[in-house]
Amino acid sequence: MATHGKPSDNDFDSDQFRELGYRTIDLIADYYEGIDDRSVYVQANPEDIVAAFDESLPEEGTDPELILDAVEEFVIPYATHNPSARYFGFVMGSGTPLAPLADAIAATVNMNTGGWHPAPSGTEIERRCTQWLAEAVGYPSDTGGLLTSGGTMANFTALLTAFRERTDFETTGPGLQETDRPRYTLYVADHEGHSSVVRVADMLNLGRNAVQRVPSHDDFTIDVAALEQMLDADQANGDEPFCVIGQAGSINVSAIDPLDALADVCAERDLWFHVDGACGAVGAMVPEFKSRYDGMERANSVTLDPHKWLFIPYECGAVLIRNQDLLAKAFAMDASYLRGSIGETPEEFDYYEFGPQMSRGFRALKLWMTLKHYGLEGYRALLRKSVDCAEHLDTLARNHDDFVTVQEPNLFIYSFRYVPGDLQAALADPPAVPLARVHQYLDELNQRIVDEVVQSGLAFLTTTSIHDRRTLRMSICSHRTTIEDIETVFDSLAETGARIDEEWREKASLPV
Ligand SMILES: Cc1ncc(COP(=O)(O)O)c(C=O)c1O
Repeated sequence: MATHGKPSDNDFDSDQFRELGYRTIDLIADYYEGIDDRSVYVQANPEDIVAAFDESLPEEGTDPELILDAVEEFVIPYATHNPSARYFGFVMGSGTPLAPLADAIAATVNMNTGGWHPAPSGTEIERRCTQWLAEAVGYPSDTGGLLTSGGTMANFTALLTAFRERTDFETTGPGLQETDRPRYTLYVADHEGHSSVVRVADMLNLGRNAVQRVPSHDDFTIDVAALEQMLDADQANGDEPFCVIGQAGSINVSAIDPLDALADVCAERDLWFHVDGACGAVGAMVPEFKSRYDGMERANSVTLDPHKWLFIPYECGAVLIRNQDLLAKAFAMDASYLRGSIGETPEEFDYYEFGPQMSRGFRALKLWMTLKHYGLEGYRALLRKSVDCAEHLDTLARNHDDFVTVQEPNLFIYSFRYVPGDLQAALADPPAVPLARVHQYLDELNQRIVDEVVQSGLAFLTTTSIHDRRTLRMSICSHRTTIEDIETVFDSLAETGARIDEEWREKASLPV
């Protein structure tokens, strides 16, 4: 029997719960209010962070107020502040403020969306979300699909489905134990194809060398003629190609492959066409960008991550699979204890039959609430703002003597290099300096610029490698970032570059 004011003797009473809750809400509200003034990267020694959490497993319980004290004292200060407007690392959505409330509610009802009966509203909300996402980007909205922990698991779900659908190899039965088989191959652009594809090939035990890297053009998009030649050669060699992956917004330069042409190749050869739009597929929501994605609607599957450019907090990936029955072919399994709750009507379907997870959280709630909150128009405005910021960054880089560009601005990820003007001239006149030494110097210089700006706390960004050269990279994946933030960070990169170059140049035995 529940005690008055609390669900059981083992829970808080309502007053205590409210007090803890109000304190937590204050903490969250203060956090958002002060986010602009925080160092984006933690200002503490790693040893201090390790020491702060170096405690033994508690034998006795602790007062929740003290636990919240520890959160305030250590967890928040020792975080990297992805919600900052000046966070440009990796591809991390900034976190929309309705989502922490949604997550609290999802944890409260604690539905397991693995099955319809344990989660009727949770299942329906997830189904609605995948259909809304499809509709938003111009993919057929009667699609199958599901939410995943992220892009890697979305790609995994799509590629396993592709593999089971397009090859004769019976992986569910004999699995690896069957030995006489061809090499099953999949194809993705060489420079920008995402590493998660290699990880998935590995997880599927296809071997990492199943991933065939197709040459790309100067704009980093896949060379379709080269793809066709590779397919011909591999088939002639006895390999069994089963899937081509097009990028819709690539990891370094936001490149979008010619999706329509890839769809043609796949249709002609009966290959599965997957679009990895983890970063950029949602750009298709914006009418003036839409034509760049022509052909995405023909894909068998699309990966699209709300925890990236829809700014939903972790974790929230999504995969759309045109034919839901094929997901069942890939994932359905039988277990009597699960059958116990199986639905009687077509509406009552169980996500555990359509994806890799059995137990699944209610991650759809934060997406559903945020999609309703902004609406398509609100989201379009935010996406346009990110693209404007990337274009502005490109203009700043082009107009500055000490930067060189490596790409046209596409969506929201932009890479560029710090190269002092005189070294640009030296590179154009190779005999003047040993080229290898200049390149090494510039690689180290670009890395050091990023390290120092990150350590200063002003901004978080990363470097990447573009055609084997260390390059600055900014992923403008925050709904909070403004043109002023871009200018502030760009100025800091320029000043830091000039200062380090001045300090280093003579020691590097390069012309001063
Ligand atoms: C193009 C692309 N695909 C897949 C992924 C993997 O996504 P996740 O990190 O959510 O697993 C990423 C991550 O940045 C990506 O950029």
